[in-house]
Amino acid sequence: MNKHHPMLERVYALSTPDECESTYDEWAVRYEHDTTEEMGYAAPERAAARLAELIRPAEDGTQPSVLDAGCGTGLVGAALARNGLTAIDGIDISAAMLDQARAKGVYRSLAKADLTRKLSFPDSGYDAVICVGTLTEGHVGPEAMDELVRVARPGAPVVLTILDRIWEPQGYRARVAELEHRGAAVLEEAVPGTVYHAKENITCTLVVLRAGTR
Ligand SMILES: C[S@@+](CC[C@H](N)C(=O)[O-])C[C@H]1O[C@@H](n2cnc3c(N)ncnc32)[C@H](O)[C@@H]1O
Repeated sequence: MNKHHPMLERVYALSTPDECESTYDEWAVRYEHDTTEEMGYAAPERAAARLAELIRPAEDGTQPSVLDAGCGTGLVGAALARNGLTAIDGIDISAAMLDQARAKGVYRSLAKADLTRKLSFPDSGYDAVICVGTLTEGHVGPEAMDELVRVARPGAPVVLTILDRIWEPQGYRARVAELEHRGAAVLEEAVPGTVYHAKENITCTLVVLRAGTR
């Protein structure tokens, strides 16, 4: 791996949810400065814009419900709100990151949750799910996609960013194939080379799944 921003080197080397929690608790206040200013972090904007092309409020103004999994400080929620989507629930393992997200005032609800475990949400409850920067090295592995599609209603879009360098090598592509095989999801799009950390020369595959009927 090339040398990256010191915080990126650090977080990609994490290995447990507890380590993620304490490291992001520590990083929370500087996270947005470091990622957006210093790394050119573009993924939240890109992914939110793609989701906003896939779902929109109903004619009567009813908002589709969106789960932002691994919401961090709320960059995705803010981008979704700018795109007219406002019924957003955020979950994250770090209370300090959630505090930053809360301060933005764009989430309908925020809660602490570990994406490596079963989520407390019922099946098929969300009209869309988005997960940016969290299914990644040192963070959350491919198995977590099972829960993301479970909580999405059949046909709902599930938008994910997964670094190009791990999409196949670390089993995310294979897990999507398993989900397809058992009817839990369909892979609708996988766009490699999507700008992620522009200043770090890191790209991702922007993935759109459609939750299945399983
Ligand atoms: C790179 S940040 C991305 C945050 C946000 N989605 C964004 O794009 O700015 C990764 C996030 O994943 C969260 N995280 C790491 N492991 C987690 C886990 N097991 N369960 C839930 N969240 C986790 C971290 O606390 C952090 O907020």
